[in-house]
Formats: sequence, C-alpha cells, structure tokens
Amino acid sequence: MRRFYPVTKREIIVCRDVEELNRKAAAQFVAHAQNAMSRSGRFAVALSGGSTPKALYSLLASPEYRDRVDWSRVHFFWGDERCVPPDHPESNYRMVRETLLSKINPPPENIHRMLGEMEPRRAAAAYEAELQKFFGQADGELPRFDLIFLGLGEDGHTASLFPGSAALQETARWVATAYVERLRAHRLTLTLPVINAAAQVSFLVAGESKSAIVKAILEKDSLPTRYPAGRVSPVSGKLTWFVTEDAAAGIGSF
Ligand code: 6PG
Repeated sequence: MRRFYPVTKREIIVCRDVEELNRKAAAQFVAHAQNAMSRSGRFAVALSGGSTPKALYSLLASPEYRDRVDWSRVHFFWGDERCVPPDHPESNYRMVRETLLSKINPPPENIHRMLGEMEPRRAAAAYEAELQKFFGQADGELPRFDLIFLGLGEDGHTASLFPGSAALQETARWVATAYVERLRAHRLTLTLPVINAAAQVSFLVAGESKSAIVKAILEKDSLPTRYPAGRVSPVSGKLTWFVTEDAAAGIGSF
C-alpha cells in the first residue's frame, strides 16, 4: 500500500489489489463508525451502488468485521439509486440488502432507502424529507454524513451525477433526479452540496478500465473539476481515494 498526500487535502491510497482496497476501506468504515458513535451515538453512512463495493459490503458482514460495529446504531443511506423497485436486479438497495443488510439485520428503521419505485421527482422530494427528518438541520444547513462511499464511472460520473447533467448544477436541493440518455434510465442522486458537506468521503476505484479517468482526475496538474467526481471536495471534511494499482497505473505523479 502506498499513501500520498498531494497538495490538496485529498488522501490517495494505492492498494496492491482489490482485496487490499476492501480491507483498507472496511477498516476506515469501522474506525469512522466507532468515532461517530462515541461522538453522537450513531453513524450515518451513504453507500455507493455499482459493482465495486459489493465485495466490501460482504467483507463488512463477515465474521472478521461484523462484530466490530454496533449495527443497531448504524443508519444506512444511499448516494444514489436506480429508479426501479427495491427487488429489481438493478436496485442498489437490493445489492446492499443481499451483500450486507440480510447478514447483519439492523433495525428496519435504520434503513433509509431511496424509493426507486416512486415517480422520480416525488422520490427525490421524499428522500430529502427523510434526510431533513433524520439530520434535523436548521434552515440552510446541509445534512452532514459521517461517511459517504462513492464509485467512479469511466466517464467521470459518481453517484448518479453524470457529465453534463443538470443535477451537477443543483445548489439548493439535496436530492436530484437524472435521466441518463446512455443508459436510458432515470436515477436519483445526492447532490454535490450534500456530498461535499460530509465529514468523510471515500472513493472506491478498482480495475485497469478506470486508469484513464483516474489519471484525468488525480494526476498532478490535471483539471479534475471537468468531471463530476473531480468536483467532490468536502468543505470541512476529508477525502480519500482508495485506488488499486492497476487503476492508478496511468498516474506519473499525484
Ligand atoms: C451506481 C453507482 C455508480 C457507480 C459507478 C462505478 O449506481 O452505479 O452509484 O456511480 O459507483 O458507475 O460502478 P462500478 O463500481 O460498477 O464500476
């Protein structure tokens, strides 16, 4: 494992392989959960969808990690969701239920899923109300997640913030809808203000197929804000990029 602290407040952890990435991310999850619980009695985490985090969620549910977290005090949110029912193969909620929730059985009230089965604009408003209720923010204050896991698409998208999407420009709403032409699919997503209000944001990026976009975002002197993922920069929080060596192969210097 190699650790870099480039000029910005980003921490880039290059991991030998996806197994090491999962172990480092699981250790971070446990540490942040324990800190949050000692501070506030609970841990609010927003989980990423996609395929990369599946093995991490399974690892957290394994005997090696499961007993290190008081799951009764963990509140599960999602960074984004496909606009499909919760038992649909594309559902991020279903993926987390199968890999993690079904094995640790948190209290049902701790599971705050995005309602993919609902008409997207209503689902976005409903989720924003759910966040308001949970975080109880004063007017104008943003919800502050203890940890947000994010993935990275080869086009530089993260959560369901895709290049050119109007959701990227959203500064008032906490949850936005997005129609992704390429996928012919409606999505729900946390917006950048909410992501950047988090105490800790961690990207999970693995595989040679991501090397070009990782280079474009993380290489020294690049222009990361050209991409949605490059606009993730917690205002008063920490940013970690967990990247496997093959995904970081294109980077000369950070
Ligand atoms: C989703 C994710 C999305 C994902 C990236 C990377 O709902 O699919 O939120 O942003 O993290 O597309 O996906 P992979 O991990 O499958 O490469």
